[in-house]
Amino acid sequence: MSSARNIVITGFMGSGKTTVGELLAQRLGREFVDMDRAIETRAGAPIRQIFARKGEAGFRELERTLALELALRRGLVVATGGGALIADDLREMFLQQCHVYCLDASKAELSSRLWDSRERPLAAGWEALYDARKAIYASIPRQVLTAGKTATMVAGEIAAREAGALYVKTPSGGYPIHIEAGILSRIGEEAASLGLDGQVAVITNETIAPLYGEALTRQLPNARMIALPDGEAHKTLATVAQVYDSLLEMGADRSTVIIALGGGVVGDTAGFVAATYMRGIPLLQAPTTLLSMVDSSVGGKVGVDLPQGKNLIGAFKQPRAVLIDPDVLATLPPLQWRCGMAEVIKHGLIAQPGLLNPELWQPEHAEELVRQAVQVKIDFVEIDPYEQGIRAHLNLGHTFGHAIEKVTGYAVPHGEAVAIGIVCAAKLSRNLSFITEAMVARIQKICWQIGLPTDIAVDRERWYAAMATDKKWQGGESRLIALKRIGEAAVVHGLSKETIMAVL
Ligand SMILES: NC(=O)c1ccc[n+]([C@@H]2O[C@H](COP(=O)([O-])OP(=O)(O)OC[C@H]3O[C@@H](n4cnc5c(N)ncnc54)[C@H](O)[C@@H]3O)[C@@H](O)[C@H]2O)c1
Ligand SMILES: [Zn+2]
Repeated sequence: MSSARNIVITGFMGSGKTTVGELLAQRLGREFVDMDRAIETRAGAPIRQIFARKGEAGFRELERTLALELALRRGLVVATGGGALIADDLREMFLQQCHVYCLDASKAELSSRLWDSRERPLAAGWEALYDARKAIYASIPRQVLTAGKTATMVAGEIAAREAGALYVKTPSGGYPIHIEAGILSRIGEEAASLGLDGQVAVITNETIAPLYGEALTRQLPNARMIALPDGEAHKTLATVAQVYDSLLEMGADRSTVIIALGGGVVGDTAGFVAATYMRGIPLLQAPTTLLSMVDSSVGGKVGVDLPQGKNLIGAFKQPRAVLIDPDVLATLPPLQWRCGMAEVIKHGLIAQPGLLNPELWQPEHAEELVRQAVQVKIDFVEIDPYEQGIRAHLNLGHTFGHAIEKVTGYAVPHGEAVAIGIVCAAKLSRNLSFITEAMVARIQKICWQIGLPTDIAVDRERWYAAMATDKKWQGGESRLIALKRIGEAAVVHGLSKETIMAVL
């Protein structure tokens, strides 16, 4: 018997607990216990009869005895009855002893599954029960969104989370982030559990196609690759229109899944296509740059540029999953690595000082680096999914940086501009007496160690003027992110031009 904690699958009746539990147990080679079935076996009667003879209270007693026994065992996959974890003490006990996953299915989905379930004694009047139990189910920390997923996919997701996948909660549910060396080169083995056994469009670019795109597409039973020209210049509506054409040509419908395989440019463009084609089709983000792994693939922002400005057209589109394969970083050009590191340092400064440890920047620690850095993005987007408050902290250094990109006509790469911007923000924080001069020096040193610049010779007036057009400076009042200390940021409003110019 495995010594691992039991995995307990719970959720409303009809949410698929038994099927998912069975598949998961098979996958993990564990023993499976379906609580309702075990009670029937013990009582020698179907649940319907137990209810008829002993009433609900009698049934709950049998259920409680079994639950107490199961909580003492290890290595099982358990599917609970729909009402088993409603009692506070049983729920608390399971939450403490086991890994409890709640299958989250909407009322509409459940009603389509429950219409013929006369076998279930509580199925009549289930809607009132749903409303009464909803809050209790929602209080279980590990939720699994089941909408649009097969039982194999739900079981695959739970297995991945048991193996260390991260999870992002969103207003409409959530999605896993699989971080695993080699995951893209083994994707064929996981096609069914990732929902990739139907029609798939792998959207990538001409650089990544020969490196990873072709091999990935070949592994999937019914996939076609669409390779865009490489570069930000192609993150446009014209490219989007071409992708729509390719999708129509391949007969893509609402069940077709898009995999966005590439850096932020591919992720944003393919994500926008997934948000809009036939009013939205499933999207998997497979980021291949450090920046896209720790930043753009998580959070749901997708979009394209207009001639008038970057990212002016867009949408929120949550992916079904994010697949991060740190192995692909081996071919990333050094400049792109450094630029991604600027965002990693940003995440370190605003929330996770461990990321500032040079030991973690070594290629052999890429997986851990990405894991810690992406967790920061997850924490911020979970609290503020639509970017109305604290998510602004992720803009540390960015108002300074965007202005540099603008005044240099985008000759300075984004990550380099952000590094310079972070140092400006650090100096500003020092001038506001939040951090010490020694901290500023430390941040500068970190940038140099990575090979990132910390200042630039541009006209200060033009630089400031470009900052003042930032869309986040509402009503002309300055709005910048400063560091309260290493590991915590804050929004500062209404600083004077002199205060800001002093750190440029
Ligand atoms: N949606 C968001 O929340 C968000 C956040 C930050 C940035 N972005 C966007 O992301 C974009 C920048 O993304 P990026 O920095 O990933 O740039 P990118 O997508 O242009 O990729 C950089 C270069 O690296 C190449 N490349 C990618 N992966 C590779 C690999 N594994 N091996 C070899 N070459 C590889 C690409 O082909 C490209 O030439 C911008 O358009 C920006 O607006 C979006
Ligand atoms: Zn950035």
